[in-house]
Amino acid sequence: MSDPSVIDSLRAAARARPDDLPLRVHLAEMLLRAGRSAEAISEAAGVLAVDPQHAAAQALMRTAIAPPAHLDPGPGSPDQPASGADVDWNALERDLAGVALPRFATGPETGEADRTFDVERSQLRLDDVGGMAEVKKRLEMAFLAPMRNPKLRAMYGKSLRGGLLLYGPPGCGKTFLARAVAGEMGASFITLSIVDVLNMWIGNSERNLHEMFEAARRNAPCVLFLDEIDALGHKRSQMNSSGMRTLVNQLLAELDGMDGDNEGVFVLAATNAPWDVDAALRRPGRLDRVVLVLPPDAAAREAVLTYHLRDRPIAGIDLKRIVGATEDFSGADLAHLCETAAEYAMHDSITTGEIRMIEQRDFDRSLREVRPSTAPWFATSRNVALFANEGGLYDDLAAYLKKRKLL
Ligand SMILES: Nc1ncnc2c1ncn2[C@@H]1O[C@H](COP(=O)(O)OP(=O)(O)O)[C@@H](O)[C@H]1O
Ligand SMILES: [Mg+2]
Repeated sequence: MSDPSVIDSLRAAARARPDDLPLRVHLAEMLLRAGRSAEAISEAAGVLAVDPQHAAAQALMRTAIAPPAHLDPGPGSPDQPASGADVDWNALERDLAGVALPRFATGPETGEADRTFDVERSQLRLDDVGGMAEVKKRLEMAFLAPMRNPKLRAMYGKSLRGGLLLYGPPGCGKTFLARAVAGEMGASFITLSIVDVLNMWIGNSERNLHEMFEAARRNAPCVLFLDEIDALGHKRSQMNSSGMRTLVNQLLAELDGMDGDNEGVFVLAATNAPWDVDAALRRPGRLDRVVLVLPPDAAAREAVLTYHLRDRPIAGIDLKRIVGATEDFSGADLAHLCETAAEYAMHDSITTGEIRMIEQRDFDRSLREVRPSTAPWFATSRNVALFANEGGLYDDLAAYLKKRKLL
């Protein structure tokens, strides 16, 4: 049932017909059954954005955000995947970090699952993010450097406000990059996760949003990260419910600093579907800079692979060969590849009773199995670059597609 290719096809169909809510709910169910809760949540959130009363989507959402089975060892829950080669537990754990309680208590921040926002404590650094030299440079110029140098800021009269929207195919490191920025910045980074958005449906949404911005203003200079902003900043014209429309309007008001001074509040947002994001959000002073995050090139793939192998026992790995065989792989695909190779080596060690390292043959085997997941996104984005490139917004994308001979 959890065949990834079936899910991919469903997803492509759902993208082509975003109004087909039953189809999208079905996709969310499949994702949930495959253990891909974060994606299921985001799909269900998309449905709820159109129809907040959608009963099946609501039910699914409740299931998806419930603690995973190992925290709630009740009978039943046959839909929980058994441990299997296609379950990426690390990724799951990471994706659910804001939803489920951590497996181990690590400090004062435990037990605060009901907080509406969180000051991110990330160990990641920008150096951990493979490749993306251009994107990192933009981030550095847009706010990391000005934030570090108040004197320089004063000299150039540069205000520290506004925002930047990261977009690109899923799994290419938008969220990862934001967490690295958080790591660079310490306490002055606040995340609004999809879970917070969900709380907003339960009520008090505008107030929650306002309080988040207030927290950011209090902590200024501060970066506010809005992940999967398409779920929140959905085109108002596509929205049936007045509740969601009000929420987007509130977001616009907050970005404009109607209720407070936004000096020192920088908004970083990410989305896989920029074409679903309300254009009003991209006006000057709001998310006025747009940066494309692409699948990693060869040098970046090497860096990503090295990062994901850093703590693993490896021997005789031909990195160049793997890099050459993984064009179009997203960062997440590469992480999954390493995971799969590790599973093969471990499985071998268990069956033979002899512990061995992860070797090239494990990768050769995994490479036959793990496929790049970015193709459906490029298929969609091609149409956008062709027919909806208003004001040259997607010029970067068009240039890349041309270079890859996809346009
Ligand atoms: N540039 C990168 N360097 C290292 N790991 C990466 C990179 N890009 C993606 N990854 C891996 O892929 C995972 C998924 O990336 P993510 O940031 O969630 O993608 P997105 O938000 O763009 O959909 C990350 O958690 C990380 O393990
Ligand atoms: Mg993401």
